Amino acid sequence: METPRSEQFDDIYFQIENGLEESRYVFLEKNSLPQRFSGQDRFTICETGFGTGLNFLCAWKSFEDVARTGQHLNYISFEKYPLSKDEIAKYLAHWLGEFDGRLERLVDLYPLRIGGWHKIRVSDFVTLTLIFDDVNRAIPELDAIVDCWFLDGHAPAKNPEMWSDTVFSNMGRLSREGARVATFTAAGIVKRGLEGAGFHISKTKGYGRKREMIVGTFEGDRGGDDSVIKPQSVVVIGGGIAGVAVAASLHSRGVAVDLFEKNGLASGGSGNVRGLFNPRFTAQRGFESDFYSSAFMQALRVFQSLDEVGFDPCGSLHLVGDDQKQKRFDGFLGNWDWHQDHARMVSKEAAGLISGVPVKHDALYLPDAGMVSPYRVVAALAKKVSVVAEEVLALQQSDSQWLVNGRIYDAVVLSCAADVLKFSQTQWLPVHTVRGQVSVINVPDSLEDLACNLCYGGYASHPFDGRMVVGSTFQSWLDDLSIREEDHADVLSKLSSVVEGFDGAADISDARAAFRCSAKDRVPVIGALPEYHGLYVSVAHGSHGLTSSVLAAEMIAAQMMGESSPVPRHVITNVSAQRFIDRAARKNISLS
Ligand SMILES: Cc1cc2nc3c(=O)[nH]c(=O)nc-3n(C[C@H](O)[C@H](O)[C@H](O)COP(=O)(O)OP(=O)(O)OC[C@H]3O[C@@H](n4cnc5c(N)ncnc54)[C@H](O)[C@@H]3O)c2cc1C
Ligand SMILES: C[S@@+](CC[C@H](N)C(=O)[O-])C[C@H]1O[C@@H](n2cnc3c(N)ncnc32)[C@H](O)[C@@H]1O
Repeated sequence: METPRSEQFDDIYFQIENGLEESRYVFLEKNSLPQRFSGQDRFTICETGFGTGLNFLCAWKSFEDVARTGQHLNYISFEKYPLSKDEIAKYLAHWLGEFDGRLERLVDLYPLRIGGWHKIRVSDFVTLTLIFDDVNRAIPELDAIVDCWFLDGHAPAKNPEMWSDTVFSNMGRLSREGARVATFTAAGIVKRGLEGAGFHISKTKGYGRKREMIVGTFEGDRGGDDSVIKPQSVVVIGGGIAGVAVAASLHSRGVAVDLFEKNGLASGGSGNVRGLFNPRFTAQRGFESDFYSSAFMQALRVFQSLDEVGFDPCGSLHLVGDDQKQKRFDGFLGNWDWHQDHARMVSKEAAGLISGVPVKHDALYLPDAGMVSPYRVVAALAKKVSVVAEEVLALQQSDSQWLVNGRIYDAVVLSCAADVLKFSQTQWLPVHTVRGQVSVINVPDSLEDLACNLCYGGYASHPFDGRMVVGSTFQSWLDDLSIREEDHADVLSKLSSVVEGFDGAADISDARAAFRCSAKDRVPVIGALPEYHGLYVSVAHGSHGLTSSVLAAEMIAAQMMGESSPVPRHVITNVSAQRFIDRAARKNISLS
């Protein structure tokens, strides 16, 4: 047993002898927890410096020791240099017996080390939002009402960036009146920073031999009305992955949901026998990287949790092929903040060893990506949802409610892909269809050993049941879904151009064509619709809907229920329908 040290800051996470006691003393006792949980339906703690999660485990246990049905702890924590699961398990091993199974559960649910926001429901009572980012970049992006702050960055002398004006001023922006703060340090810079942000600060006895520490109470007034009218009943229109995911997210929050589907669940884009889940790569870090990093992790977590959905985390090789892709992948690796355990470039020889077949290009390797059966995911997520087999032709709003096929609802979610254009409220959205066809082939001898997915503009799935999916075409000019021979030839010839020894000949065992829905800017459209109360969309998931839909669902559910968001504010803004209106206004053009 040794005291864990941070390489970056040459400072310890906690003392191995008494770290648990110190955490309970500084952060629970000095913040008057668990007493202050009493009578609060939702209590939000925000921490700077997640580290091993020791403070989180203490708060989680303390909350559940006293929580009554209906109470919820929302724990938000920033961490710039995430430890691995193994490190957390090792560093906290000697306190295993203190947390009644919670440490094992934390290790189990702890995200991959992928920069971004990861909102995880760890129990019926507790949600953890782990923000793998520099607190200075991320805290201005947070929307929450915080009841209590745990300031646990390394000592200000060793890590001054953590105790910045950005952090203090945002604490003032986010705190509820009367919010409490505690920190192990008594440094003047911290005291002054907190006072400047509106906290009344006092010094108190520190833990053990430490002379002093700081506690405080927020005396400022954040202004505004924090109350949210939560919908009791919601209608979701469209039973593809986007729709069932929203319905499942709302159902898990106790909302009554009806889902209308005109052609049968998963009859549209979501009906393929297998699909790949991957982020959509960009060279820069921005709203798209923040969205797809969180979405990838969320999709992985959800697919893993479902039985019999063909979940296969076989990994994906993204073959380079040209300079533009090389630049994009280099940018992705340099800027997205994914740990090398989860994303790295490999030579074509190494790619051949990983995939089990000789490939013609170097590749970006994502060992945690994989494939799943979309239609089975839809079926699994729809299990608890009330499905109505009807087409919805119009939405009528009366007062604050919606009339849909003769029934009344508090809110509507349109997840009907490009059919969103048929509703008067959303016919202005700049979305369109893109036909796609996949071929399902019997695995040829030359691909028998393929051990992962290959992506190269097209894609070839890891074999399953002696078959594999080779996809897919992109035809925005076609509106006919009949199977085309030339499309088989097209996808197979693309595959033959990247794998040595595969000449493009294959037994076709099946095929499927469907429409994707894409927006003009190729970004999904998610969230509340401007100008209508209680109208939401989740559409335009393009060719990455398996990854993006489940996060979209959580974003919409959080928005409706007034919860803190699973993504930064700039993501919400940039995926919202409002973005088109703002852009048109800036260019002084009309949208319709
Ligand atoms: C050939 C092909 C291959 C693909 N491969 C992948 C892949 O490997 N990985 C990946 O991530 N993505 C892939 N995609 C994209 C992915 O399938 C889509 O992004 C995703 O399925 C979109 O889901 P959705 O729920 O938004 O739309 P859909 O699945 O199309 O669902 C919309 C549903 O709404 C219903 N509906 C429409 N209007 C109404 C109405 N008025 N009333 C009631 N119901 C209505 C429709 O019947 C339909 O079932 C692929 C797409 C295609 C076409
Ligand atoms: C003392 S440790 C926290 C101990 C932790 N609360 C625990 O329970 O193990 C401080 C943590 O802050 C993180 N950190 C330091 N600077 C940061 C920054 N600018 N943004 C986010 N996290 C940071 C460190 O990586 C480290 O994990």
